[in-house]
Amino acid sequence: MKKHLVVLSGAGISAESGVPTFRDADGLWMGYDIQEVASIEGWRKDPQKVLDFYNMRRKEASKVAPNRAHQIIAELESKFRVTVITQNVDNLHEKAGSSNVVHLHGELFKMHSELCTDTSAPGALQEIYTDIHLGDLAADGGQLRPFIVWFGEMVPLLPHAMEVVSTADLFIVVGTSLQVYPAAGLIHYAPVEARKFIVDIHPPAVPAHQNYRVIAGEATAGMEEVARLLLN
Ligand code: OAD
Repeated sequence: MKKHLVVLSGAGISAESGVPTFRDADGLWMGYDIQEVASIEGWRKDPQKVLDFYNMRRKEASKVAPNRAHQIIAELESKFRVTVITQNVDNLHEKAGSSNVVHLHGELFKMHSELCTDTSAPGALQEIYTDIHLGDLAADGGQLRPFIVWFGEMVPLLPHAMEVVSTADLFIVVGTSLQVYPAAGLIHYAPVEARKFIVDIHPPAVPAHQNYRVIAGEATAGMEEVARLLLN
């Protein structure tokens, strides 16, 4: 049976595709107040501003291509059973060919009714590749909103992600500052005996007893190194 390889990715894996990260110097939040555009309070206060922000991000994301780091993860499916848990709302893992991607923080190219309380229910999500406008209504009469897990909202896929991480034989953390909880807490569910790697230009601290192989560098070069170590 194939070993289970679990990847936890963040904005840093998409940086070389031209998607800005959140907390680096040229981070996306420059000029934007996180609370205004990425929180449930912000949505209630000014939905037009929030829709404009995600419409812009959707447009940008539709123009970018996966990079070698995304591709390597997809290619590792030939050798391992791979589950990607990503905090990213772009679809670059899927575009690279990964077949099992858990989007913890939602997806830019999906939307749902603001009245929806369970985004995992069948039919709750609709695909969207253009703009969402104020006044665009779902079948239940609710305003359509981006499928983004905002600050102040539950992370519906968290229990599933915990379960996935806890069954990892191999665990790769790539391009995340591990600053945002509960996603950052997932690293504590990796089995002690799993083989672990962390790839980041500025690797965040991870528990010493977990024996991570720390690879400091860009995601593409770092993932080449991980693949070399895993396949040889
Ligand atoms: P951050 O912007 O917090 O962290 C990006 C990480 O990527 C940092 O550790 C950087 O050092 C690293 N990095 C930058 N460029 C890199 C490169 N070329 N190669 C490798 N690593 C690189 O992004 P996240 O950790 O993903 O949530 O942020 C987590 C969440 O915070 C996001 O999902 C988002 C945000 O608020 C929501 O939108 C709900």
